[in-house]
Amino acid sequence: MPVKEGPVGPFPEGADAEEYDRLRRRVLWTMPSGLYIVGARAGDRRNGMTLNWATQLSFDPKLLGIGVEKEAFTHELIHEGRVFSLNIVDREDRAIVRKFTKPVEVDAEARTLNGFPFHDGRTGAPILDQAVAYLDCELRQEVEVGNHTLFIGEIVDAGFLKPEDTPVLRMEDTRMNYGG
Ligand SMILES: Cc1cc2nc3c(=O)[nH]c(=O)nc-3n(C[C@H](O)[C@H](O)[C@H](O)COP(=O)(O)O)c2cc1C
Repeated sequence: MPVKEGPVGPFPEGADAEEYDRLRRRVLWTMPSGLYIVGARAGDRRNGMTLNWATQLSFDPKLLGIGVEKEAFTHELIHEGRVFSLNIVDREDRAIVRKFTKPVEVDAEARTLNGFPFHDGRTGAPILDQAVAYLDCELRQEVEVGNHTLFIGEIVDAGFLKPEDTPVLRMEDTRMNYGG
């Protein structure tokens, strides 16, 4: 899909498109969110990806939604492999989110993703050993939403890998933004 040039509408009547675009982005960026690493797998191919668009969508069944760029390698893996994990990150580990913004190097023998040790969860999706906690999901629905896909997974396993009171990473702990 060709990337559109310039601000994306609709625009309020009389608004300057560029100015309104910058304002709308700042408003969108005020929305509080977490910051996670999504683990994906199809066969022998695994990946980890930094993501902040994640939310619980239903409590019966237990459904989790994540918004993933259509061009991302992770998108291909989830579409094919039908599983994903959400790794909840230690606030002390904020540096790792920069290491998961493009397809990772997987060392299958050492069992590392970009040097970070992982193990496979119940679904087979990779879980970082240093995550505070994880949600392991089987894909139930794929909803096309513009240039992203909302992958909806049912939580089939969850657990803590660090003490429950470990502070977890949020977008506001970084100087990064996404979307807008
Ligand atoms: C702070 C931050 C938040 C991000 N949030 C998302 C997100 O919610 N969804 C998404 O598709 N990509 C998000 N990205 C971009 C991905 O991490 C990544 O660059 C891209 O999707 C390609 O991943 P891949 O390794 O699967 O190809 C975010 C990046 C950063 C730096």
